[in-house]
Amino acid sequence: MPVPPTSSRLQWTDLPTSLRARLEDALGAPVTDTVTPSGGFGHQLAAALTLEGGRRVFVKAAPDDDPLTTANVHEAAVLDALPPGAPAPDLLGNHRAADWTAVVIAHLDGPHPDLSPASGDAGQTWALLDKLTSSPAPALYAAAVSTAQSTAAALHGWDELLSNPPVNLAPAARAHLPQFAELEAAWPALAHGNRIVHGDLRADNMVRDHERGVTFVDWAHATTGPTCIDAASLAPQLILAGHAPADIARLLSDHPATASSPDTTTAFLAALTGHWHRNARKPGPAGAPGLRAYQHRAAAAGLALLVYRLK
Ligand SMILES: Nc1ncnc2c1ncn2[C@@H]1O[C@H](COP(=O)(O)OP(=O)(O)OP(=O)(O)O)[C@@H](O)[C@H]1O
Ligand SMILES: [Mg+2]
Repeated sequence: MPVPPTSSRLQWTDLPTSLRARLEDALGAPVTDTVTPSGGFGHQLAAALTLEGGRRVFVKAAPDDDPLTTANVHEAAVLDALPPGAPAPDLLGNHRAADWTAVVIAHLDGPHPDLSPASGDAGQTWALLDKLTSSPAPALYAAAVSTAQSTAAALHGWDELLSNPPVNLAPAARAHLPQFAELEAAWPALAHGNRIVHGDLRADNMVRDHERGVTFVDWAHATTGPTCIDAASLAPQLILAGHAPADIARLLSDHPATASSPDTTTAFLAALTGHWHRNARKPGPAGAPGLRAYQHRAAAAGLALLVYRLK
């Protein structure tokens, strides 16, 4: 699947000297090489650091007055609280210096998964979601996410498009606008649940680690919610990767995370797709050149899926 282009990210040398020194001290060796992986839209440092001796770690860092630091600190708390066996890397530490914060995470070695029909990665990802959502989140995890608002629960877009429909709105979206707005309006009341939710599942927020297999990264939007959120988020990504919408609609009807809650799944998909259709039309934010083009593609994939679910 095409991974969205990397944004113009901060580099290791952009970090204050005192923070770099603090990290090298904590890691026990100087940094000899840095690699910024492709994928994602954030502007913060998100890089694999190689230390003298060859060990690698993954670091995310931003100034404390950047909202991404709040997200990184949330992600660190989540990584620390996920149950053993969760498909996530370990947290190695949090470090602050010169009003910056860095989160150090175990390095995963491998490419983004290939979610196309030709690969087994999509099947592996579905299986991970089945396992992740099959039992309630542990209390430690629920406590860790309780301090942040769920971004999944706040998704919407059709409401605004309904009140002022853009001329270039896809015909299928125009035909269903009132219905989509109604479905989306039902979502906030359905968004509660006690399962682990990653909240931002895309191929570029996963790494197919050579030893661990597909592993989810970027837990900055993690929350608790109904079982369907991650599976329903993955579905349009699979369409973007080349799967037929009819096949994915069928998978959603059968998957344990979505089969038992069809109304919640459809309401979430409506809210997510509305969010994409609305946001894709906004001016692009600085430092994230590929974001709006990605949202246009995702909006079309979500729409195709929604139309199937309403048939
Ligand atoms: N633990 C890890 N080991 C190796 N590579 C990783 C790890 N975590 C993330 N990555 C890679 O780095 C990229 C950026 O990381 P991540 O998605 O966490 O950052 P982000 O700035 O929050 O991204 P986004 O822009 O999606 O919000 C990912 O797309 C992935 O390729
Ligand atoms: Mg990411």
